[in-house]
Amino acid sequence: MIIFDNVSFSYGKTQIIEKISFRVAPGEFVAIVGPNGAGKTTVSKLARGLLRPTSGTVTIDALNTRTTKASKIARTTGFLFQNPDRQICQNTVRDEIAFNLKIQGKSDDETTSRVEELISLFGFDPNASPFRLSRGERQRLALASALSAKPKILILDEPTTGLDYRECMKIMNLIKSENLAGTTVFMICHDMEIVSDFAERILVIADGRLIADGNPDTIFFNKEICAKAALLPPQIAELSQRLGGAYQGIRHVDNLFGAIRKNFKGEATL
Ligand SMILES: Nc1ncnc2c1ncn2[C@@H]1O[C@H](COP(=O)(O)OP(=O)(O)OP(=O)(O)O)[C@@H](O)[C@H]1O
Ligand SMILES: [Mg+2]
Repeated sequence: MIIFDNVSFSYGKTQIIEKISFRVAPGEFVAIVGPNGAGKTTVSKLARGLLRPTSGTVTIDALNTRTTKASKIARTTGFLFQNPDRQICQNTVRDEIAFNLKIQGKSDDETTSRVEELISLFGFDPNASPFRLSRGERQRLALASALSAKPKILILDEPTTGLDYRECMKIMNLIKSENLAGTTVFMICHDMEIVSDFAERILVIADGRLIADGNPDTIFFNKEICAKAALLPPQIAELSQRLGGAYQGIRHVDNLFGAIRKNFKGEATL
């Protein structure tokens, strides 16, 4: 469970986050969206205990971040930085994945077996140098490290930015399967197609405030919220709204196709 209770945060005198409250239940897949500079990364760092609230309380997995060491939170919470190069620090893929487990004091046997498991799951060359990998592969490596200690909660800051479609799907399918296995996912994302396909709930942040909290249908079909947070709804949602009538409220290709087919029954060979 992640709980933000009336959380504000300032860098010096500049207020960045203002009185944000929400709860994320175990096993949820939540996306955090909003314009550049809105405060999304700050919220993710507050959730992970890398920043502490100026006022209010953040609780993660029953630990108050104000009084708990970030290293203790790391035992149950995996974190992926906005830029994977900020967390990669070892010379081989194997050492990189092992690093997090070693600093958590896992035994050599446990570390070796978990590292081998992840190398096989991700299909990595264990001896490759992380810095010679493509951006997408480095992103996957950072994700493997974040998953190494089998976290209950995964906090991801834009896991797919800068990736091509194939790399993006590889990452998202891995995240989805972790979620299906019970891991709570708290993911910042700029791509509304991905948010629409993967998240079950969306927190919208604009100007350091939480301006909406709801399921994708509630958010993407609310013009006012989308405009306030500069969100570009998924194309199918946009199209279905423009078509109106029976098509309204549809966000997925298959559903739109089904509705068109039903509407044109007997008149077209779709
Ligand atoms: N270390 C810092 N010192 C001072 N101000 C900062 C610092 N880090 C971020 N900020 C400011 O805090 C605000 C929120 O930044 P944050 O990185 O949380 O936004 P974001 O929503 O993640 O943006 P983006 O979509 O560009 O990643 C911005 O105005 C940013 O300039
Ligand atoms: Mg950010």
